[in-house]
Amino acid sequence: MSRLPYTLALIPLALALGLAGCAPAPRPSRTALGGDPEQGAVIMVREACGACHEIPGVQLAHGEVGPPLTGFARRTMIAGLLPNTPQNLAQWIRTPQTYVPGNAMPDIAVSPQQAADMAAYLETLS
Ligand code: HEC
Repeated sequence: MSRLPYTLALIPLALALGLAGCAPAPRPSRTALGGDPEQGAVIMVREACGACHEIPGVQLAHGEVGPPLTGFARRTMIAGLLPNTPQNLAQWIRTPQTYVPGNAMPDIAVSPQQAADMAAYLETLS
């Protein structure tokens, strides 16, 4: 009988482990910033990024106003001035005019989450 409290104490632990085993695995496609690349590709079509950029895997994205975004994950810098991190990329997409005033890329009126989704897609281009 002296072992009963010990055994009882193990029940919540066993339950916790069992529940953890049932929890959905984190989506491997998400980046550290929480962006969803598939969603990002959809948003880039809607926002017509392809009017100015070549973007592999994005419909009709063959523009030549801005630089091609081919292999973007391998780039070390964004627009030659920001280190290429998901955070900086999402920030660039929303406010390029803050970084390079007067350049042809307009500030894009999307939510931080939508910018993170697009950044996540671009970070898949290796
Ligand atoms: C009207 C044209 C235009 C549109 C629309 C546009 N861009 Fe750009 N983009 C540019 C130009 C021009 C640059 C280069 C800016 C610079 O380096 O000063 C640029 C730069 C970039 C860069 C950095 C490229 C590099 O080589 O470092 C990224 C990333 C980018 N744009 C993503 C996007 C995304 C995502 C969208 C859609 C939400 C978008 N752009 C819409 C013109 C555009």
